Amino acid sequence: MNNMNKRMETIVIHHGYDAKQHLGSLSAPIFQTSTFTFDTAEQGEARFAGQEDGYIYSRLANPTVRMLEEKMACLEGGEAALAFSSGMAAVSAVLLALTKANDHIICSQGVYGCTFGLLQMLKKKYHVSHDFCAMETEEEIRRLIRPETVCIYVETPINPTMKLIDLQMVVNVAKEYGITVVVDNTFCSPYLQRPLEFGCDVVVHSATKYIGGHGDVIAGIAVGKKELMEEIAKTTQKDIGGVLSPFDAWLLLRGLKTLPVRMDRHCDNAEKIVERLKTHPLVERVCYPADPDNRDYPIYQKQMKRGGGLISFEIKGTKRDAQRFLNHLQLIQIAVSLGDTETLIQHPATMTHSVVPEEERIKMGISGQLIRLSVGLEAWEDIWDDLEQALSSLGVI
Ligand SMILES: Cc1ncc(COP(=O)(O)O)c(C=O)c1O
Repeated sequence: MNNMNKRMETIVIHHGYDAKQHLGSLSAPIFQTSTFTFDTAEQGEARFAGQEDGYIYSRLANPTVRMLEEKMACLEGGEAALAFSSGMAAVSAVLLALTKANDHIICSQGVYGCTFGLLQMLKKKYHVSHDFCAMETEEEIRRLIRPETVCIYVETPINPTMKLIDLQMVVNVAKEYGITVVVDNTFCSPYLQRPLEFGCDVVVHSATKYIGGHGDVIAGIAVGKKELMEEIAKTTQKDIGGVLSPFDAWLLLRGLKTLPVRMDRHCDNAEKIVERLKTHPLVERVCYPADPDNRDYPIYQKQMKRGGGLISFEIKGTKRDAQRFLNHLQLIQIAVSLGDTETLIQHPATMTHSVVPEEERIKMGISGQLIRLSVGLEAWEDIWDDLEQALSSLGVI
């Protein structure tokens, strides 16, 4: 069945799977196999030569993984997708495929800590340099472009400050110079933001987060043009080998079926919490894309459907007060992931972004008082009660 023109709520359930081809099994089978047998030696030769379609070995392709890839390509509006064993495997496979020694990357001023680490490694070992850019104006980006610039890498919303970058503006500049735009869409999922619709070239995900949605799998996805995805499949994916297991692909297929329902509930809950945090006397500032008082609200209106489940806020006081606040929480778990059913909280300066040198962290807007909250699917009243009691326990700062 071609579901390309169906709505997202239908696509997440039906696209890429036909029960009739699998003995009527409603749920997709898990092809838990490392390799595939050939009928004859000649068939093996033809498959290796690319003259005959068919599976060879699960590092090259696997039917359960393929179902996930087809669904993700459709959801992001891309031609093809590839699944990886982690978000970082997806990010590194894409960046290694796009660059060669002495190339240059422009990156949003603020990225996930390990993406920062990867950029440092590319620079040190392979002389692929990078510049960070706030990307608030076209001019700022233009100033950094060099003949060797091959990629603009963007996180929006930026982890963990929730700053937004105008994707249309970035694409306008990149297209003038033939530069590839890669967007990390982890915080939004395709339900809230579809960067390829704005002309971006590649979308990457830590599928560990909202795509899986249940905190039980580590996975990554890349989506883009068929030609580029085929090149990555044959090079950095195949030869570095960070591929997704069939069972993990199945967990993601299952998680995806409820993506729109989950995302709406994450957003409903987050909106309620933001309202309350904003008026709490011990909270200095709250960053949430869908908050009309947020500086980046006009960008939110252009490119996001709703604000998402992540909120960052600064409490009044010191780093030590932020840690004391976390220690007083009872329902909310202190953990560095996001997009799960459980509400999770973390302290970016000492956890996800501790690898970023302090000077760079301050430029990114990550202070010792900044806290990142991933609002889960519990009753929002219970989440708020827990936050409120932990804030009250700080007393007067
Ligand atoms: C925005 C973002 N991108 C990429 C990653 C890396 O994903 P993974 O942990 O699945 O490798 C993370 C992880 O937290 C993330 O938050």
